[in-house]
Amino acid sequence: MEFSLTNQTVQNFDGDCAVLFAFLDKSNDDQAIQALIDLNHFKAKVGKKLSLNFVDGFKVSRVIVLGLGEAELSAKNYAKALISLTDTLEGEKVKSALIEEVNVDGYDQSWVHKTTARVMQNSIYQIEKVGTDGVEESSIENIAIQSNSDNAYELLQGQAVAVGMALTRHLGDLPSNVCTPTYLADTAQSLAKEFDLDCEVLEESDMSKLGMDSLLSVSKGSIEPPKLISLSYKGNGNAKPIVLVGKGVTFDSGGISLKPGACMDEMKYDMCGAASVLGTMKAIAKMKLNVNLVVVVPAVENMPAHNASKPGDVVKSMSGQTIEILNTDAEGRLILCDALTYVEKFDPEAVIDVATLTGAVIVALGKHNSGLMSNDQALADDLISASKVALDGTWQLPIEDEYDEQLKSNFADMANIGGREAGTITAACFLARYTKDYRWAHLDIAGTAWVSGSKKGATGRPVPLLTQYVLDQVN
Ligand code: BES
Ligand code: MN
Ligand code: ZN
Repeated sequence: MEFSLTNQTVQNFDGDCAVLFAFLDKSNDDQAIQALIDLNHFKAKVGKKLSLNFVDGFKVSRVIVLGLGEAELSAKNYAKALISLTDTLEGEKVKSALIEEVNVDGYDQSWVHKTTARVMQNSIYQIEKVGTDGVEESSIENIAIQSNSDNAYELLQGQAVAVGMALTRHLGDLPSNVCTPTYLADTAQSLAKEFDLDCEVLEESDMSKLGMDSLLSVSKGSIEPPKLISLSYKGNGNAKPIVLVGKGVTFDSGGISLKPGACMDEMKYDMCGAASVLGTMKAIAKMKLNVNLVVVVPAVENMPAHNASKPGDVVKSMSGQTIEILNTDAEGRLILCDALTYVEKFDPEAVIDVATLTGAVIVALGKHNSGLMSNDQALADDLISASKVALDGTWQLPIEDEYDEQLKSNFADMANIGGREAGTITAACFLARYTKDYRWAHLDIAGTAWVSGSKKGATGRPVPLLTQYVLDQVN
């Protein structure tokens, strides 16, 4: 799928299909179209469509009228309608379409262009079944957006975000017998080749030398060797890098604190933090941004075994702090704490970790917003504003000493769980003990990284938020 801007009118467009918008509370400028809307009793609810053939005054044989709801068009309604439009264009095997210019309340045209490209490109993602060779290509070849501007850079940006999201979704959707820590390391290495990035993969013995016994306590019950992956993109000389750390638990069985059986398959998605930082790297590298970006992925599998960690075991992290592992299912923080100590070596401008860390965040925020916690309010504010632009919601939760006290242990510097209350916040308090030396934010994406049920699949979130945040640092 390719995107372009054009100053052609919808009436003069000579491709396959013209897309016009309709509103509930405003009639169409084109009288022929409005007559057909009335004739068909078409209600312009968000995402509803009316397919018309051979309309008077149009060169194309097919016109699609897409409902956008209220004329004061919200960003979310626009995105929702675009998803429905892409489905229709694919279903009708349309090759080229022109989309009418539209105003979205509170956003400028460059945002409209970027978002259109991103949402439409992301909509054509298909799950690649194991054992098959790739997926069928989309029928849509060209999308032209009506505009007086000829600055197509936003289209490339939006598309780059969707390409990053596709990688993130693909890695998430892969089963854990394919997407192992080794597979994640291989993926990082191919990204490094494709985009000329620096890639370093630490093996178990390397991590052992660095004293990462907290991370290694999670992987030791698994036959899959752990990996610590770093990928660096240099687009801004010697400036301090933004560092993204992604939780890469390629399967979370819970370990000896074994999870219940229902929905356990979904714990193949416990590497979506890792997948999202790799997807963000791909998007940024494609955009060739003038920024320095490092992504770090601690990748492990969490399994029960005779040699797995047991509740009550005490380990020493790379930072020197000791941890009593009261629950082997609170493994994300055990790998992240060592990765967060490790990233000090990059002298980061800011560190953002991304993790499917707690079921509690789904109780608190549902599946709509990622949980955001930070030791630096300016950083949190930047992420919140990026999330609004990217339509990739976050909601901030507090980090305060009262919560941190829940981590007290009689046998080590801290326990790895803080009890039933405020589970998302106590997990962040645990991480905060390892991030005192730099500006840090934590995104708990357990509710947003994938959807369950009949539409089960990875969402590609929070790649839109992370890429927008990085973009904002450049401009
Ligand atoms: N990966 C899970 C969190 C999770 C659970 C994500 C369900 C999505 C859906 C994490 O490793 C975990 O098991 N967390 C525990 C922590 C608890 C033991 C303190 C949880 O949330 O139950
Ligand atoms: Mn777990
Ligand atoms: Zn987990």
